[in-house]
Amino acid sequence: MKQEYGQLLVAPKPFVKWAGGKRQLIPVLNQNLPDTFGTYYEPFLGGGALLFHILTERSGQKCSISDLNSDLVLAYITIRDKIDDLILSLKGHEKNYQRDSSSYYYSIRKSNPRNDVEKTSRLIFLNRTCFNGLYRVNSKGKFNVPLGKYTNPNIVNEENLRSVSHILKASRVSVKCRDFETVLSDAKKGDLVYFDPPYQPVSSTANFTSYTNKDFTFDDLTRLAKLCTDLDSKGCKVLLSNSDSKKVAKIFAGKPWKIERIPANRAINSNSKNRTGHFELLIKNY
Ligand SMILES: C[S@@+](CC[C@H](N)C(=O)[O-])C[C@H]1O[C@@H](n2cnc3c(N)ncnc32)[C@H](O)[C@@H]1O
Repeated sequence: MKQEYGQLLVAPKPFVKWAGGKRQLIPVLNQNLPDTFGTYYEPFLGGGALLFHILTERSGQKCSISDLNSDLVLAYITIRDKIDDLILSLKGHEKNYQRDSSSYYYSIRKSNPRNDVEKTSRLIFLNRTCFNGLYRVNSKGKFNVPLGKYTNPNIVNEENLRSVSHILKASRVSVKCRDFETVLSDAKKGDLVYFDPPYQPVSSTANFTSYTNKDFTFDDLTRLAKLCTDLDSKGCKVLLSNSDSKKVAKIFAGKPWKIERIPANRAINSNSKNRTGHFELLIKNY
């Protein structure tokens, strides 16, 4: 694998920590991938853990990736197209943060940069230095996470950012900011769609859905279930992650769906005791 990346050496990994990120579940997701598939679709992209895994293992794989969070989608495009300027800007953040972390963090959190490089650099800087590496916005779409307690956060992970830029440029990847329902009209027989939507709450206190200023509701889940059935009728291979929720299990009960309960630790939970001992559902039609 090292050879494939030439002098880049590192295999690309998610460049942001994202609530619901699938890095720790890659081995089990990998076991559940079909041997062959056409285009790979990932319409709830987030940090893109499975995307980077697939691109690393299958060079030249055609992919269609999307998310409703416009800052996040812009970050993928900026990393692909303006990597040198982005790294320069992040090095600036790193220097200023080292001088006075708290006042610098809150000044950047308040700022509203206009150009793509500064917007993406702000997103990555805040993600690296905020509490728990969480992305969360309020109802007005404003990032609202406080400063995290880090002694030496890795603000400019240059090797990984260059590797991500390289793989996005080298592969046939289309990147869009869209609602999940609008990006699958071209999906055809044999294509693979991986859905990793914001999870349905398993209890009334377990809700984290603030990736955008629009929550993912039960109606959205119903829309998603209908789309899964339509994709199945077209002959697409569908893989879906969700919480171990009775409502989800009920919606996907019966043919063609196979449901597996898999152990999953949560990387993002304000109480570290609540990060272990959880299960998730993995649902597929193949
Ligand atoms: C659980 S996260 C995906 C995590 C990802 N698999 C990873 O490894 O980091 C869910 C994502 O869905 C996005 N999202 C929420 N509502 C959406 C919608 N209606 N259409 C498309 N994306 C949406 C959020 O912005 C968030 O990035």
